[in-house]
Amino acid sequence: MSLTMKQCLHLRNSNVLGVISLIIILGSLNVKVAECRVIGLGNNEYSAINCRKHSALLTDFGGVGDGKTSNTKIFASAITKLSQNASDGGATLIVPPGKWLTGSFNLTSHFTLFLQKDAVILASQDEKEWPSLAVLPSYGKGRDAPGGRFSSLIFGNNLTDVVITGQNGTIDGQGSYWWVKFKKKEFTLTRPYMIEIMFSDQIQISNITLINSPSWFVHPIYSSNIIIKGLTILAPVDSPNTDGIDPDSCTNTRIEDCYIVSGDDCISPKSGWDGYGVKFGKPTKQLVIRRITCISPDSAMVALGSEMSGGIEDVRVEDLTAIDTQSAVRIKTAVGRGAYVKNIYVRRLNLNTMKYVFWMTGSYGSHPDPDFDPKALPVITGINYKDVVAKNVTYAARLEGMPNNPFTGICISNVTIQVSEEQKKLQWNCTDIAGVTNNVTPSPCEVLPQKDKTDCVFPNDKLPIEDVQLKSCSL
Ligand SMILES: *[C@@H]1O[C@H](CO)[C@@H](O)[C@H](O)[C@H]1NC(C)=O
Ligand SMILES: *[C@@H]1O[C@H](CO)[C@@H](O)[C@H](O)[C@H]1NC(C)=O
Ligand SMILES: *[C@@H]1O[C@H](CO)[C@@H](O)[C@H](O)[C@H]1NC(C)=O
Ligand SMILES: *[C@@H]1O[C@H](CO)[C@@H](O)[C@H](O)[C@H]1NC(C)=O
Ligand SMILES: *[C@@H]1O[C@H](CO)[C@@H](O)[C@H](O)[C@H]1NC(C)=O
Ligand SMILES: *[C@@H]1O[C@H](CO)[C@@H](O)[C@H](O)[C@H]1NC(C)=O
Ligand SMILES: *[C@@H]1O[C@H](CO)[C@@H](O)[C@H](O)[C@H]1NC(C)=O
Ligand SMILES: *[C@@H]1O[C@H](CO)[C@@H](O)[C@H](O)[C@H]1NC(C)=O
Repeated sequence: MSLTMKQCLHLRNSNVLGVISLIIILGSLNVKVAECRVIGLGNNEYSAINCRKHSALLTDFGGVGDGKTSNTKIFASAITKLSQNASDGGATLIVPPGKWLTGSFNLTSHFTLFLQKDAVILASQDEKEWPSLAVLPSYGKGRDAPGGRFSSLIFGNNLTDVVITGQNGTIDGQGSYWWVKFKKKEFTLTRPYMIEIMFSDQIQISNITLINSPSWFVHPIYSSNIIIKGLTILAPVDSPNTDGIDPDSCTNTRIEDCYIVSGDDCISPKSGWDGYGVKFGKPTKQLVIRRITCISPDSAMVALGSEMSGGIEDVRVEDLTAIDTQSAVRIKTAVGRGAYVKNIYVRRLNLNTMKYVFWMTGSYGSHPDPDFDPKALPVITGINYKDVVAKNVTYAARLEGMPNNPFTGICISNVTIQVSEEQKKLQWNCTDIAGVTNNVTPSPCEVLPQKDKTDCVFPNDKLPIEDVQLKSCSL
């Protein structure tokens, strides 16, 4: 007698005692059982910035996983109860297999939300399940409507040490309700994000699948020391504003090993909007983005901005793959934004089917107030791209700075672009920009002259977040 793969997988979710007793029942002769036991026990292990001393199941608090019963109050009471363990080693809330319908709920410190395999958190489509919050101080206005905003499905404020992880369980935002109503312009509040954590330190989001967010998926804001790893993010490519991951006024962030299909930018670092962002003054800096695959036919793989009024600096992007994406690492800004985008380093991009490999836009528009400050000109400088291979491209570049405020210090080296219709079009459309290139095909525009031996910079030092090692934990 031997165990099938399915039985093994089932065992993987059982507890240690269960596995051991099953082995005793099955007797001593089967090699496959022994192999399975090793895998089974290993599967309750995961890696995290911190392990927890205590844990409880959502069902311990009365959770019902039928996909119909609301668990909003259950999540709230479970997390409130487990918050009492914060000073004594922290706690994990385990979401077991099932469909757990819920509205918005709040996280707590020294806490892990763990989604087991086949656990699905389903976002409620009942607006009463979503409290309203004030607009973000660095934005001043809501993005969908000027007033307030719906709290995100999973929200955290003023936290330390919070982890959302699991065995690739799913959070389903059931976004269609919100997309339809948004397109009809029926909201007076801005749509909720799927996960938003603000004014917090030490955040990990890993090994889960996120689908169909009402709007942006993952939004860490005014936070630091953030690891986002191993996410699968999926939304229809025509869904409105379903950005994948938007680090916003955050310091020391590492985003890696994610697969993103989206109706908007796969990753979009931000830092506030026009005068509100300038006044709030909190940049996004020390950010590494690596090993991401992005599909987004109408948006960018990485878009810096357009809300960048607190500044964006020291961003390192490497080993990204785009498949049918509008542009690669784009800069979006406008008169009125102020601040800067500087010291951006990009290397090793593998791009397939793309409208513009290089795209910078100085006239993005989109303002919280019509009377923005026309003298608030953003400084865009020190933008480095190297080691890029692109196939099936429509235009090599559209680089548009601002009249009387050129984007400077642009460096592009070792780039091979295979354009689909080279003869017919202006491949490099450059206005109000300055910089250098080397070993780039097709030949760049005259304002980016070839300078022999130029190898654009990518820093050799590591950011502090790159040195953070995850601990090995078990459920
Ligand atoms: C993600 O899952 C893999 C495979 O189960 C595991 O090895 C890894 O430790 C997990 N990582 C994180 C950051 O949760
Ligand atoms: C922490 O959680 C455990 C359950 O794991 C509970 O029995 C205990 O009372 C909690 N500790 C505190 C300090 O609340
Ligand atoms: C979450 O906390 C915020 C304050 O940070 C509060 O306004 C909101 O109502 C809370 N949400 C829920 C669902 O309790
Ligand atoms: C933030 O959390 C700390 C510790 O839990 C608490 O003392 C403080 O009052 C909180 N601040 C705000 C603004 O909520
Ligand atoms: C997680 O689930 C998604 C969606 O089913 C799947 O595409 C992805 O490959 C899974 N990831 C892992 C590491 O198993
Ligand atoms: C090339 O790009 C065009 C869009 O510009 C797309 O329709 C076509 O399928 C792509 N071809 C390949 C081989 O990917
Ligand atoms: C140029 O870029 C390609 C593709 O990333 C890479 O394989 C190659 O090593 C680079 N060449 C140099 C001289 O760095
Ligand atoms: C070149 O770019 C400018 C600014 O983005 C745009 O207005 C113009 O239409 C483009 N020219 C061509 C030929 O694409």
